[in-house]
Amino acid sequence: TSHAQAGSTGEPPVVLAHRGASAYAPENTLAAVDKAAELGIQWVENDVQRTKDGALVVLHDDNLMRTTDVEEVFPDRAPWKVKDFTAAEIARLDAGSWFGPAYAGARVPTLERYLRRVERNHQKLLLEIKNPVLYPGIERQTLKVLANEGWLDREHVTGRLIVQSFGADTVRTVHDLKPAVRTGFLGTPNVADLPEYAEFTDQINPAHGSISTGYVAAVHAFTGPHGTPLEVFTWTVDTAADARRVAGYGVDGIITNKPDVVRDAVQGG
Ligand code: G3P
Ligand code: CA
Repeated sequence: TSHAQAGSTGEPPVVLAHRGASAYAPENTLAAVDKAAELGIQWVENDVQRTKDGALVVLHDDNLMRTTDVEEVFPDRAPWKVKDFTAAEIARLDAGSWFGPAYAGARVPTLERYLRRVERNHQKLLLEIKNPVLYPGIERQTLKVLANEGWLDREHVTGRLIVQSFGADTVRTVHDLKPAVRTGFLGTPNVADLPEYAEFTDQINPAHGSISTGYVAAVHAFTGPHGTPLEVFTWTVDTAADARRVAGYGVDGIITNKPDVVRDAVQGG
């Protein structure tokens, strides 16, 4: 893929819209996916969790309070955890008004709807399995939805899909279940532990404050399960100065709420 050797060739890093273009539209909604597309951003990042009745939905927090009107619609359902609501209940919520009146009526997307929008926009997806300890079996279920939606064909798995998680066991499980799928581990493992990670992950994706040129070079020195150097996609970088700093470290990707700002900083555009 085009980003595979960005760090080693000196190409600018790829830019990924964190939760969609979430500085400009409500995070993890179709509007945020579309906003990234409007800005010309190919890659979007999202977060996937599971409802009470087993549907996969796109939302960051383990509860619905910050990004929906759940407290008004279901006042008696504290603490408003995603896992305690059905998909039909979540479909009633407004996931846009908290961000601004222009987005009133935006919904929490199911993973299926989200994938269809990303596909329609000809975009690429960095899918995060969020809070996996709350959702036993979510790895297999996520892969099943991806397969049903056509996202595990050769074109998608070789260049348009990466599945990441903060849970190393989750990343390993995804790799074991579907070895063709490229994977990312969220965190900053000790360099001494990288040989073990390189068995099941193609990327090491650290917070931008936790890395250096030396760390990025150390990660690039390992070869992942698909025979390419381990990549580094770092997060969450929202200023031009930080974008230039991490580009200087040689990272392969930058995950940002402001993809236009980061692209202009690192691609001179
Ligand atoms: O993709 C990296 C980033 O999304 C990880 O942190 O909390 O925003 O999911 P968080
Ligand atoms: Ca995330």
